[in-house]
Amino acid sequence: MQATAQAQPNIALVKYWGKRDLDRNLPAVSSLSVTLDSLWTRMSVSFDGREADSLEVNGADSPDMLARVSRCLDYVAGEDRPRARVTSESNFPIGAGLASSASAFAALVVAADAAAGTGHDRLTLARLAGAISGSAARSLYGGIVELIAGADEIDVHRLMDADEWPLEVIVAVTEEGPKPVGSGDAMIRGAETSPFYPGWIEQQDADMQTAREAVIARGFAALAGVAEHNCLKMHSVMWSSRPPIVYWNKATLACMETVRALQAEGHSVFFTIDAGPQVKAVCLPKSAGAVESALAQTEGVIHTMQSRLGAGARLIGA
Ligand code: DP6
Repeated sequence: MQATAQAQPNIALVKYWGKRDLDRNLPAVSSLSVTLDSLWTRMSVSFDGREADSLEVNGADSPDMLARVSRCLDYVAGEDRPRARVTSESNFPIGAGLASSASAFAALVVAADAAAGTGHDRLTLARLAGAISGSAARSLYGGIVELIAGADEIDVHRLMDADEWPLEVIVAVTEEGPKPVGSGDAMIRGAETSPFYPGWIEQQDADMQTAREAVIARGFAALAGVAEHNCLKMHSVMWSSRPPIVYWNKATLACMETVRALQAEGHSVFFTIDAGPQVKAVCLPKSAGAVESALAQTEGVIHTMQSRLGAGARLIGA
């Protein structure tokens, strides 16, 4: 009745922004991501039959996330399951646009499935994680991952193994506090108020196709072009929402300039930014040292983290 699982966050290169079905949390668009290696979340679940579920995050009670965690346990093990003690540990900041909910819910479904002995297959676990947090479905898989948004269900699969195309990701952290608007609420606002939202939805399949072909051909420049374009389109939807949602700060822009300067020097690197002010630079291994040191020296960057691509969510010893 007890199990521990680890998952790593994933970074979308073609973004999920928008929901088709709010109750089931179905995404309005397909997305493509890379799963990281050195950032992790570990979740332990013990169905010990206590009176009510409890959640501890990095050693402290965490009532805020408890409702979503309980719902996730219900999805995996059924509403009549025993109540559980859940503990979570991460080696990176939570709720600051670093995809902490993706790694948390991916690890949670794997741990809960093992602890409850439900034996769900991987795609089912991905769908259950995605019903709580859309991006979490992708962290069930390693390497480069595609999520296809269907009318009733999502399909998620690995497009390429982590070692088939050894990309590196450097995260420039420019702010450590929690974000002002959660991504779920921000997406809903965008759909309701941004004049750019219909165009965003309409072009997504073409961006997916371009990115998929670039990955299969290992065409870095083509992937860079579509990923930056897709990221800036998503932020255009955010900026044009009412009230507007601007996650960037001065250092976010400075990091984008740093990436542009590295590109001008001939480095294979591109940026992407999620629902937060951090900048993620994706590059080929030969450029990783230069990218890391240029971002670390960029004004306003607090620290950087570097990761290669890694594996999907899995059980680990407690
Ligand atoms: C900007 O998965 O956090 O990171 O389904 O509401 O939990 P919910 O949203 P979430 O949104 C992630 C948005 C993004 C882009 C992406 O990861 O594709």
